[in-house]
Amino acid sequence: MPVHTQKIIILDFGSQTTQLIARRIREQKVYSEIHPYTLPLEQLRTMQPTGIILSGGPASVYDADAPLSDPGLFNLNVPVLGICYGAQLMMHQLGGTVERAEKREFGKAELSIHQASGLFAGLAPEPVQHQVWMSHGDRIKQPAPGFAVTATSAHSPAAALAHVDRPFFAVQFHPEVAHTTLGLDVLRNFIFTICGCKPDWTIHSFIESTVAAIRSQVGQDQVLCALSGGVDSSVTAALVHRAVGDQLTCIHVNNGLMRSGESDSVIRFFRQKSAFHLIDIDATKYFLDQLKGITEPEEKRKRIGYGFIEIFEQEAKKLGKVRFLAQGTLYPDVIESVVFRGKAPIKSHHNVGGLPERMHLSLIEPLRELFKDEVRLLGLELGLPEEAVFRQPFPGPGLGIRIMGEVTADRLRVLRQADVIVLEEMKASGWYNKVWQSFAVLLPTQTVGVMGDSRTYEHVLALRAVDSRDAMTADWSQLPYDLLGRISNRIINEVRGINRVVYDISSKPPATIEWE
Ligand code: XMP
Repeated sequence: MPVHTQKIIILDFGSQTTQLIARRIREQKVYSEIHPYTLPLEQLRTMQPTGIILSGGPASVYDADAPLSDPGLFNLNVPVLGICYGAQLMMHQLGGTVERAEKREFGKAELSIHQASGLFAGLAPEPVQHQVWMSHGDRIKQPAPGFAVTATSAHSPAAALAHVDRPFFAVQFHPEVAHTTLGLDVLRNFIFTICGCKPDWTIHSFIESTVAAIRSQVGQDQVLCALSGGVDSSVTAALVHRAVGDQLTCIHVNNGLMRSGESDSVIRFFRQKSAFHLIDIDATKYFLDQLKGITEPEEKRKRIGYGFIEIFEQEAKKLGKVRFLAQGTLYPDVIESVVFRGKAPIKSHHNVGGLPERMHLSLIEPLRELFKDEVRLLGLELGLPEEAVFRQPFPGPGLGIRIMGEVTADRLRVLRQADVIVLEEMKASGWYNKVWQSFAVLLPTQTVGVMGDSRTYEHVLALRAVDSRDAMTADWSQLPYDLLGRISNRIINEVRGINRVVYDISSKPPATIEWE
């Protein structure tokens, strides 16, 4: 995949804000990647980092099982910045001491700069105070040999340190968060002045280097891509198409569990592009047969995932020799699979899982290094319709996991109609793009109601809308009552089969975003 000549490598020690560090740096047009702190030294050396950042993290360096990176990284001749736990680790590994602080510092603190050079070049020294954001229970007691204290706060006599003649810097505060007013200046000083990076990483340069990398990887071979209609697979397809043109074939399998019109606009878009090979298969009947009588959530997911592979494989075989499979794996997917390794999956999110091995295909994952909003930017740059680019995430098993109990054609019809109303009202009120996801869930429970003068006994529909940054945690969205009222009214009036609408007010954890 693309080779970035200049890059800042961030070693992750588990902080909630590690991803933000990478974001802030990329916003400065410098490429940055996160790796687990366990990254072997040799691999780190091969990456030829322009600078290294040690992130924060919840541990204490003196814990028996404290996460430690290879201290050899201090001999790579590369500038190193330690943040919070990373700062303490730097002191610990280079001969200083860290102790439990009498007073822990969480939240805002005032920082006084003693040396307005290095990380603090261009910033006002004391008596001016700068607001920073702290989150630590330990503090640096004795700086490591060769380090001088460059800033202090009320509870951190060593809030920032710099080595006198080596490019090593440590800050107890978090420069990556918005509450640290001088945060961006500190990061800019590190990447531009200390590391000597140039601000030349943009989505444009990303497209250029990625297209070149895909071309050289693929050569004259054929590439397959499963086009679901979601933003990740659409952008992947558009990018690979730009690289290898008609050597790419996309397969769209309609599993009958899509939202009304969910993938149509994207399919239309790709169809309109000349020379774009797109195979569109309607497998609704096959999937409904597979799901007949199945009520257990994991079994449903398995059948939908397996069914997809079956159909995809059948179609792919007809194409003859294909060597590559293009997939829209994103950066958070990569990081999550690193950080959460070893944990049992709560839900098996296997959409095309197992396909590459089974079909002996090599993977092309051109979005592996990007965050969702960068993928959206890329989509716009590649000319995808805005509607597709800003679509909310939609799970691979689709409405199949939003119908509790058995999935039938009739239940799908009911849910689809209700879902259209949710979507229309969310968009009309401007809330669609404010929330992470908003959707309807059909319950198998029937309740009594009254319509006109008659008794009804019909289904309950649940509304779910959540705010989230990365889907790992989420909270229910505080949608305005009048919007909720309008949605409920319209659904009960317009959708036959529903006489009650409820709003889900659970957060994740302990609930999850989807109901199954
Ligand atoms: P949960 O329900 O686990 O969902 O809180 C987290 C995010 O993942 C989406 N989701 C899926 N996406 N295949 C997918 O591609 C799946 O099987 C799947 N299950 C859940 C969900 O919509 C939310 O954005």
